[in-house]
Amino acid sequence: MSLRQFISARKFLRSFYSVTDTVVLRWKEFAALFGLHDDVFFDPRHQKLTSPVKAVLIGGGHRGSIYASYASKFPSELKIVGIADSNPERRKKIALAHGISEKYCFSDWKQVFKSEKIADAIIIATPDHLHTEPCLEALDAGYDILLEKPIAPTEKECRQILTKANETNRIVGVCHVLRYSPYFRELKEVIDAGLIGDIISVHHMEPIEHIHMSHSYVRGKWRNSKMATPIILAKSCHDTDIIRWLVNSPVHDVHCFGNLRWFTNANAPQGSTERCTDGCKVEGSCAYSALQIYYRDHKRLYVFDLPEDKSKWDEQILHELKTTDYGRCVYRMDNDQPDHLTVNMLFENGVTAAFSMEAHVSYEGRRTRIMGSKGDIVGDMETFTLTDFKTRKQTTWSLKTDAHGGGDFGLVRDWVQAVAQKDQSLLSSSVDVSVESHLVAFGAERSRLNRSIEDIRMK
Ligand SMILES: NC(=O)c1ccc[n+]([C@@H]2O[C@H](COP(=O)([O-])OP(=O)(O)OC[C@H]3O[C@@H](n4cnc5c(N)ncnc54)[C@H](O)[C@@H]3O)[C@@H](O)[C@H]2O)c1
Repeated sequence: MSLRQFISARKFLRSFYSVTDTVVLRWKEFAALFGLHDDVFFDPRHQKLTSPVKAVLIGGGHRGSIYASYASKFPSELKIVGIADSNPERRKKIALAHGISEKYCFSDWKQVFKSEKIADAIIIATPDHLHTEPCLEALDAGYDILLEKPIAPTEKECRQILTKANETNRIVGVCHVLRYSPYFRELKEVIDAGLIGDIISVHHMEPIEHIHMSHSYVRGKWRNSKMATPIILAKSCHDTDIIRWLVNSPVHDVHCFGNLRWFTNANAPQGSTERCTDGCKVEGSCAYSALQIYYRDHKRLYVFDLPEDKSKWDEQILHELKTTDYGRCVYRMDNDQPDHLTVNMLFENGVTAAFSMEAHVSYEGRRTRIMGSKGDIVGDMETFTLTDFKTRKQTTWSLKTDAHGGGDFGLVRDWVQAVAQKDQSLLSSSVDVSVESHLVAFGAERSRLNRSIEDIRMK
C-alpha cells in the first residue's frame, strides 16, 4: 500500500480535488493534467523488507511514543526492542506495547550503550538538551539514528553531530515532519515541475494558536530559551527547513525582529493569582484559564500521564494544576520566548523570504504565499491555489490532515527504508541540510538579540 493510500484509508485526508475554471478534477486527474506523479509519497526505491528494522527508543514521551506506534502498525517494517526513559510509567507503557523484555528497559539513556548492541538503530526523542550526547554515543556505537528536532540546542553541538555522522557514515534522519505532509509534498512537486516558473520570493507564516503558545511556550517545557532552546529553533526550525526546501538554495543572510509582548508580569490582570486554582478573580473571563483548558475542556492532556480509568482523570488533573507549571498563571511565569517574530532571509540564488511566527492567532498550521515568474501560489496547509499569469487559470487543491499534516508516519517510513537499505538518499533531507536550516535559526536569534544582519555559511 502506498503512503497516500494509507493516509486516505485513515481519513487523514478528508478530500482532495482541484478546480480548473469550472471543472472539478480528482487527485489522479489533476496529476495527469500537469504531468505530475499521482502519488506524492511514491518512491520507486522503497523495498519490501525481509525483516523489520530493530530500534531502541530513547525517550518514550509524547513524540517517542508516536514514532514507536509506527512499529505497532507496521510490524514487518519496524520493531522496538528496547526503551530508555527515566519515567517508570512511560517505560512500562512502551515495554508493554512492544513486548520489550525487562533486560532492555533502561532508566537512563546512558545504560543503552553499556548493554550489548541489540538493534540497528536508535530513535532519540528526549528533551532538547539530551540530544547531543546520546546521538554522538549512538553513532560511535554503530547505530543509525532518528533524531528529534532540534538537532541540538547550540550551533557547536549541531556541527559536532554533523561531523560525527559524516565520519561514521551512519544514517541520521532529523524529524522535519512537515516535509512529509501531503500539503508541502504537493507544493514541492508543483514548484519543482516549474508550474509557477522560477521562485522570486516567499511569504510564510507560522500561526501557533494562542492556547498552543500558552501550553508549550509560556507554561510548558519550552517557555524559557535558556532552559530549552530559543523558540525560533524549538518551534520554527521546521519552517526554516521547509522554506529552504521549497526555495532549494542555501540561505546567505538573515535578519530577525521579535519580542515577548503579552505574556509578561506587567499584563497580569488585577485579581489574578499565582495559580488558576488559587481563587483567581478573573479565571472565568481569562482565555488562558488552566481550569478551562485542561480540567473542563480536557485539552492537551498528554503532558499529565493520566491513568487508563477516565473516572480518575478530573481528580488527577486538578492535582496537576495545583502542583505543576500547567496550572500557573500565564502572566506570572519565568518565560522569555517571543510571542511574535519576523525573519527575513536572502538566499544564494537571490530569492527572498519573509517568515513570521505568530502566537496571537485563533488558528494553527501554516500560511504560504509563493511568488513565481510565471504564477503564484496561496495556501493555508489545507488548500492551495495556483494562478497561472498567462492563462489566468486558477487551480485549487484541498485537503485535511492532522496537526503535523499527516507527516509523522511518512517520515518514519522513509527512515526505515534508509536504514534497511543503508541509503541516506532515501530520506527527504540530509543531515547537512538539516544543520544548515538550524544555522538559519541560530543566526535569526543572534540577529534578534544583537539587532544585526547575520551571514549564514556552513563553513
Ligand atoms: N518533530 C516535532 O514536530 C516535535 C514536536 C514536539 C516536540 N519535538 C521534540 O521532541 C523531543 C521530545 O519532546 P516530547 O514532547 O516528546 O517530550 P516528552 O517530555 O513528552 O518526552 C521526553 C521523554 O524523555 C524522557 N527522558 C528525560 N530524561 C531522560 C534520560 N536521561 N534518559 C532517558 N529518557 C529521558 C522523559 O522521561 C520523557 O518521557 C524534544 O526535543 C522536542 O523538542 C518535536
